[in-house]
Amino acid sequence: MKFFLDTGSIDEIRKANELGILDGVTTNPSLLAKEKKPYMEILREITTMVKGPISAEVTATDTAGMIREGREFAKIADNIVVKVPIIKAGVPAIKQLSSEGIEVNVTLCFSPLQALIAAKAGARFISPFIGRLDDVSTEGMKLIEDIVTIYTNYGLKTKVLVASVRHPMHVVEAALIGADICTMPFSVFDKLLNHPLTDVGLKNFLADWEKVTRK
Ligand code: G3P
Repeated sequence: MKFFLDTGSIDEIRKANELGILDGVTTNPSLLAKEKKPYMEILREITTMVKGPISAEVTATDTAGMIREGREFAKIADNIVVKVPIIKAGVPAIKQLSSEGIEVNVTLCFSPLQALIAAKAGARFISPFIGRLDDVSTEGMKLIEDIVTIYTNYGLKTKVLVASVRHPMHVVEAALIGADICTMPFSVFDKLLNHPLTDVGLKNFLADWEKVTRK
């Protein structure tokens, strides 16, 4: 499973990159709005820091506007992916951009049918928001299972990009289901390796070693 960082922060990407296992970045208007620099500048910088796909989201809500913005984003770099919301006006935009060879990440997905339609329109990625479903007492991870089943049933190639991840167990569950990608905030990425037994074990090994080497 690939690990993407869900952020607009250059600093967080730099820190995450230190592990050497970061596969891509997803942004959205809310994340970019938190940053001080102009969003096009941030996106350009991110495309030079991470080799994998970098998602940039359109803010137009009409088909022509989404296509126009998508084409502009695609000019930034070869690794840009255009994020389009799964609304009626978005479907022809997904189809048009994809037919031009621009990869599309379909966002704000909350149902299996939205995911099926996105795949039929040619989306490269589907982003189901699991944390926001959990927030309204609906099992977000069940949506991932359903999408994986439907895509497998029909041999659809759209990649399942688990979004709105809130904690490391979401990452574990997504991997068990066989999702292609998990995008997560830095706060979650930073916890992935944590285990108290690893810390205690290392402390004890080093203490025992020191006793021997001091003799
Ligand atoms: O980038 C889309 C998604 O990951 C947003 O997550 O935490 O705002 O629901 P969240």
